[in-house]
Amino acid sequence: MCGIVGYIGHREAYPIILKGLKRLEYRGYDSAGIALYDGTDIKLSKTKGKVEDLEDKIKKEITTDGTLGIGHTRWATHGVPNDVNSHPHYSNSGNLVIIHNGIIENYEPLKQELESRGYIFHSDTDTEVLVNLIEDIKKNDDIKLGKAVQIALNQVIGAYAIAVFDKSKPNEIVVARLGSPLAIGIGDDEFFIASDASPFIEYTKNAIYLEDEEMAVVRRHRGVSIRKIHDDSLVNPYIQELQLHLEQIEKGGYDHFMLKEIYEQAHAISDTFRGRLLTDKAIIKMGGVEDNMKKFLNADRILIVACGTSWHAGLVAEYIFEDLARIPVEVEYASEFRYRNPVITENDLVIAISQSGETADTLAAIKLAKSRGAFVFGVCNVVGSSIARETHAGAYTHAGPEIGVASTKAFTTQITILTLIALRLARAKGTISSSDYRHHLFELEMIPEKVNQALESDYMVKQIAEVYKNAKNFLYLGRGYNFPVALEGALKLKEISYIHAEGYPAAEMKHGPIALIDEDMPTVVIAPRKGHYDKIVSNIQEIKSRKGVIIGIVTKGDVTVRELADHVIEIPETLDCLSPLLTTIPLQLLSYHIAVMLGKNVDQPRNLAKSVTVE
Ligand code: G6P
Repeated sequence: MCGIVGYIGHREAYPIILKGLKRLEYRGYDSAGIALYDGTDIKLSKTKGKVEDLEDKIKKEITTDGTLGIGHTRWATHGVPNDVNSHPHYSNSGNLVIIHNGIIENYEPLKQELESRGYIFHSDTDTEVLVNLIEDIKKNDDIKLGKAVQIALNQVIGAYAIAVFDKSKPNEIVVARLGSPLAIGIGDDEFFIASDASPFIEYTKNAIYLEDEEMAVVRRHRGVSIRKIHDDSLVNPYIQELQLHLEQIEKGGYDHFMLKEIYEQAHAISDTFRGRLLTDKAIIKMGGVEDNMKKFLNADRILIVACGTSWHAGLVAEYIFEDLARIPVEVEYASEFRYRNPVITENDLVIAISQSGETADTLAAIKLAKSRGAFVFGVCNVVGSSIARETHAGAYTHAGPEIGVASTKAFTTQITILTLIALRLARAKGTISSSDYRHHLFELEMIPEKVNQALESDYMVKQIAEVYKNAKNFLYLGRGYNFPVALEGALKLKEISYIHAEGYPAAEMKHGPIALIDEDMPTVVIAPRKGHYDKIVSNIQEIKSRKGVIIGIVTKGDVTVRELADHVIEIPETLDCLSPLLTTIPLQLLSYHIAVMLGKNVDQPRNLAKSVTVE
């Protein structure tokens, strides 16, 4: 989960690489580094910290000339994030320089072998082992860099996206991928390398996404040649036209990407509907579902695998699939599922949910399910991502790029897709009446407008944030469809403000968390009018009678909770099963404002990364 960037062409490489790294910081921001070839030598600078720290250091340390270079932003896996462990890494001779996203699992024996041959290691990283392995092969066999990289990668176990160049042959960059993404932008006599297309979107719309087990030699003036790492066969490059636009990856006047993405949700949900929700014809049309309808209808159960916020979307889906389509559902953390020898059969249908489509545990869970004969359906945001490619069929959320590390619009659009699927299956199975179905479609279509109305609570949420920003703990309670929303609200607060928060099913509070209630701990209670309202009112009373503080998320016009709670935030009325799409909004805003007030880095919270491509 690091970000890598490279450039070879006729422009100055440094500004392209620096800007590219800033765009890729969502992938990791423990350290950053750049290596440039200035016409005679490599100029390298790297540092612990963010890309802006690197920029400051570079100003003092190196000249930035050159039309070839590579850069890296790191989320530490091997070795603490310090200057030495930062990428790029030199080989012992100083001729080769490499950047790497991933993990070399067998680096220990390789390192010992190289040490026995006199190689010296300066860092604790697996990457420095790889670059010296390449050097050793190249030197002993007197072969070209591309061949040496290929031989080295055949000895390596693990995951990687790498870019490496040799200062004695400064007209090419060799890249390779296995398990970590790598795109090559094809410009006019210039080439860009990056973990995703965002670093080069203003220069070219044409890109090649390397597949797993592919490597490429990118040559100045000569183009790109791709081959398979393991069997050496040549691959015909498939050049895709990018759909990404520059404004999608810029803040567009907002202070943070997270706020922009919260505000984009109405639009994003409409994009998720596009061409799929045809309310006037009472049709839901989704190619991936229609083509595989039998698999869905004949499945004994649906197993959902995901991590983080996507797992919470899966929990909402569990309620909706069971409620509307009457299909048994189990929701699993991908990381647990893959390591516990789960019972999966050909009669299971697995749905994998992932914003990035690159989460290593989710990917591994998919592979496991496939190996046991299950049909796997993907719900991803990033088009062409590893999970999108690994699944048998799927549906994209079309939320647009999500850059803030804390997921917002990905969550609501995932719920939207899963709701569409549940409704489509309910209709096919006859578990929903025709009038109810139409009513659901009608209410669904109103959601984007209602999301915008829910966003009008922003000013009030900010005032509440001001009052409770110094609380040490928060409790989030919800029932039914809104229990997963309570989990998600608590996760958002933890992620970006570092305040401890717990999400709990409201009724379970009596079995433990009630002991924590006092006047210092705010409890956020999600209490829309539809869905166990009376029960949740009783839970609120239980908290009030113990001097607890209540922030209620209520339906517009609510009276009962308003009388009991210390604060209420109103959302528009909708169906119980659609309420998570609205109740989530004020919780996202609450965490955002508290984090901003506490001076935290909202878009890049400490220790986290947007896409976790390590296990
Ligand atoms: C990381 C991110 C979370 C995200 C999770 C799953 O932990 O910080 O925001 O929910 O990964 O990511 P995915 O891309 O698979 O949805």
